Amino acid sequence: MTYKDKERKFKRYNITTALPYANGPIHIGHLAGVYVPADIYARYLRLMQEDVVFIGGSDEHGVPITIKAKKEGVSPQDIVDYYHKIIKTSFEEFGISFDIYSRTTSKIHEKTASDFFKKLYDEGKFIEKTSMQYYDETSKIFLADRYIVGTCPLCGNDKAYGDQCEKCGSSLNATDLINPHSVLSGDKPVLKETKHWFLPLNNYEDFLRKWILEEHKDWKINVYGQCKSWLDQHLEPRAVTRDLDWGVKVPIEGAEGKVLYVWFDAPIGYISNTIELYPNSWEKWWKDSDTKLVHFIGKDNIVFHCIIFPAMLKAYGEFILPENVPANEFLNLQGDKISTSRSWAVWLNEYLIDLPNKQDVLRYVLCANSPETKDNDFSWKNFQMHNNSELVSILGNFINRTMVLTHKYFGGKVPKMGKVNEVDEITINEIEKYPQIIGSLIEEYKFREALFELMNLARLGNKYLTEKEPWKTYKTDIPSTQTSINLSLQICANLAILMEPFLPFSAKKLKEMLNLTKEIPWFEAGRIKILEEGHLINKAEFLFEQIEDSVIENQLQKLMDKKEENLINNFSFPEQKSQISYEDFSKMDIRVGKIIEAEKVLKTKKLLKLTVDVGIDKRTIVSGIAEHYNPEDIIGQEVCVLVNLAPRDLKGITSQGMILMAEDEKGNLIFVSPKKNISSGSTIN
Ligand code: MF3
Ligand code: ZN
Repeated sequence: MTYKDKERKFKRYNITTALPYANGPIHIGHLAGVYVPADIYARYLRLMQEDVVFIGGSDEHGVPITIKAKKEGVSPQDIVDYYHKIIKTSFEEFGISFDIYSRTTSKIHEKTASDFFKKLYDEGKFIEKTSMQYYDETSKIFLADRYIVGTCPLCGNDKAYGDQCEKCGSSLNATDLINPHSVLSGDKPVLKETKHWFLPLNNYEDFLRKWILEEHKDWKINVYGQCKSWLDQHLEPRAVTRDLDWGVKVPIEGAEGKVLYVWFDAPIGYISNTIELYPNSWEKWWKDSDTKLVHFIGKDNIVFHCIIFPAMLKAYGEFILPENVPANEFLNLQGDKISTSRSWAVWLNEYLIDLPNKQDVLRYVLCANSPETKDNDFSWKNFQMHNNSELVSILGNFINRTMVLTHKYFGGKVPKMGKVNEVDEITINEIEKYPQIIGSLIEEYKFREALFELMNLARLGNKYLTEKEPWKTYKTDIPSTQTSINLSLQICANLAILMEPFLPFSAKKLKEMLNLTKEIPWFEAGRIKILEEGHLINKAEFLFEQIEDSVIENQLQKLMDKKEENLINNFSFPEQKSQISYEDFSKMDIRVGKIIEAEKVLKTKKLLKLTVDVGIDKRTIVSGIAEHYNPEDIIGQEVCVLVNLAPRDLKGITSQGMILMAEDEKGNLIFVSPKKNISSGSTIN
């Protein structure tokens, strides 16, 4: 019995990946969290000769896309056309082996999502509710939460959105905002009645509790835990429609100007894309109970894939439910949260320009650091380390040594198996175990460990060569040398098969080098007769190359430059202070003065003790400018002084007044002084 023959519960695998929003390119966080693991899983199952469909696509609806379009003065369709293409290309370039990568603005999706809604509607699965929502009378539309800005009732931030205050992080209802106004017209919105359809999730609570909490204890703890906490807080009806003009139209009468909520239509995209791929045979992928449905997603998508979408499928009937939802945590970049708006990210399209042909290196590093159980970090130093001391030194080195020795001693021909000693036997036994070890880990969604085991096979190869020393035995013991090289080549062939899910580009290259032309399934690896005696291999080439410090420094510099750029672009001067009366203003006595003495205040970093001639007298003023000016440089400096400020004691010195300074966004301090000479004591009104 081989590994392949083990009992399988399922006949086929439907693997889906979260549909990324088509409003920006894809970055390493997306790849690490969702697409690399899903691709490893799909490629592995295909090599196991299982029946697989691997579904991807762009999520092209939702309010943020309409906001981006408005900002850039184009249509939402323009935005999604642009990014869909970039995203699709990135996935192709990184070898994400989707069977289809489509989009939610496709005709077939609109029909599928619309029909789905209609069926639930006709069967009375929704509840209708009328509520009061903000409406912009100038723009004549109901305002999505993100289109309303106002003051947060909790922290006073006056730029809080209708759904969330980004300053204090609390989630809000648009009606909670103090002083709300429309982002579109600036007007104060009015409350107006509107009707929406809700999926009563509460009706599915018992079913969900049983299905997840009892039958799916096998789910990852982060996923199970999130579901449990949602279910324990009890579910409420959820609106599945919105007042918006971008999305799938609500297919019932009297619903003009309304579309399906983006989170209602998007997961249906998995189904529509399957229909687009297999118009005549799609149903078995979604309706046969011997199909295993697996959703690969990031942790922010858990509730939608484990609770809401299953409730939708259940309400519809006929459909199977996901067998597993192996959601990952988040990947950070250089210790900081990845952020599109702060440009703190490594974009896939840019990566390949800077590091051409290094897809596999990134796939490797992202898998090795995959945020499987907790948030994880990507750093360029660590990237370099994985490349230089693992891919180059362990994997690449073993393969290269073996190839070179084969050419040197045997003219590029696989030598026959000579005599077999204990070291050979132990190695042969070890090799045999790897397909099963790595395969089982992949099937348990433990991709990091699986990758580690793959590298152990290469480590085994290096250890074997070191122990057998064919470069020495060549002179004295040909049969032993033949065995060493034959077995090393068999390890290379095994690597070529087993690394394919992780490093597909290198696997292809290695197969070409080994002149392995036929497809060998996963379960046929582990053998030591993949390459026949006398088989001619091709020229040795390097699979991986050292990455120099300068390359890493460039990438770090690039990130830092962006950070700086962002700080400047996103800086805003403090808000205008609250109003004062003329009377308040006229109380201030501001005069022109001249600094006549200056010295540092001992044991402080910031303070200078100044003597200032303010016309009416010469007085002591303590000023916090020591980090900006040397005392000797400011003697004679003309300044403006608030002279009637109540005296204050600073470090035992009484300060009588305040020197006015201008401060810019970077915290630079500049004296404010008259442009022409004017005598000290002149008033400033
Ligand atoms: N666009 C969503 C996101 O990026 C994911 C949608 S997954 C789907 O968070 F199932 F709804 F398609
Ligand atoms: Zn707030």
